[in-house]
Amino acid sequence: MKDSTLLVREKIDYSEARPIATPIFQASAFRSGDPNFYTRNTNPNFEDLENLLAKLDNTNYCVTLSSGMAAISSVVHLLKPGDELISGSLIYGCTYRFLSDFCQQMNIKLKFVDLSDLEKAKSTITEKTTMVFFETPTNPFLRIIDIKAISTILKSRNSNAWVVVDNTWATPINQKPLNFGADISLYSGSKFFSGHSDVIIGAVTVKNKLLYDKIKKYRFYHGAVPDAFSAWLTRRSMQTLEIRLKRHEESIRDIINYLEKQPLVSKIYFPEIDGVQLKAYGCLLFFRLKTQDYSHVEKFMNTLKLFDQGTSMASVASAVANPFNGSHLSMSEAERNDIGLDEFVIRLSIGLEEVDDLVADLDFAFSTIN
Ligand SMILES: Cc1ncc(COP(=O)(O)O)c(C=O)c1O
Repeated sequence: MKDSTLLVREKIDYSEARPIATPIFQASAFRSGDPNFYTRNTNPNFEDLENLLAKLDNTNYCVTLSSGMAAISSVVHLLKPGDELISGSLIYGCTYRFLSDFCQQMNIKLKFVDLSDLEKAKSTITEKTTMVFFETPTNPFLRIIDIKAISTILKSRNSNAWVVVDNTWATPINQKPLNFGADISLYSGSKFFSGHSDVIIGAVTVKNKLLYDKIKKYRFYHGAVPDAFSAWLTRRSMQTLEIRLKRHEESIRDIINYLEKQPLVSKIYFPEIDGVQLKAYGCLLFFRLKTQDYSHVEKFMNTLKLFDQGTSMASVASAVANPFNGSHLSMSEAERNDIGLDEFVIRLSIGLEEVDDLVADLDFAFSTIN
């Protein structure tokens, strides 16, 4: 054979190789007869992650997607013109913007409501409601929404309607929405699952095959697939998810103890953990700085040395953010004010550093405000 042919065709037989760790299937196409067919359809690295997530959420069905936003998009594409979507008002800013724009374009009726208030939920959900979407604990303010109560209200009014929980922040280790009546649980795997601020990926777990087929079809035709390496990295990182969560939880208790004694903090937002719906919680908290001067917020954030600024969170490295000017910036100022968010609310994401070092860093940053 000529060199040019060798260059293209020469391969060793690796069929006997049996690696302990799952290899990366960096392939777009598979040989005919292979059920993967084409990576836009599926790939062993997606399936490895999907199999695990489905098991963690007590179901058989999971679809991974290119991002958390793609996961949300795949789910709201289940709706059709004329449908009614009720969304929690305390949700990630990009989700708020996306739902608003999508529903307007698609002629879907959309109402935002604080679903942690069950009376409000009861008076808003009707027999016309086709989907209820929310995050719990909520972002911002970490309020709890009762998944079982919302599911019962919705199903009693429209048994065909879907309850969707964005479970990114609780993770399936601490909260399993499908066990409490939700039809769909979705994730930004870019947060705790991958855990190192180096992957963008999403996932949807669903109760039934019909929904699974629809979401998988959405992924195929919209091309909203992750890539093999991101799926592999995420599956690899998930081996340490539970121990990372435990460490986040331990550290955040010490951080709360410290903040409770800090005179410049007027309020701390942390979820109530009932041990039933929400088993545990860690890593993220919000607090309100006692000031009316935004330069104090900037000074505090800029002085911190062990907290990265930016979009990073739920990562091994600690981070500080100002949601009003960050995660919720895609909402108008009026929309942010409506949900009670102003520029004096600060979000901390507590990483795996030694907590004493983090407390010392916070303490020094507070000391610079006068
Ligand atoms: C709760 C929640 N859901 C969804 C998303 C979107 O995920 P991604 O950035 O992976 O698209 C985010 C991003 O911060 C989020 O915080």
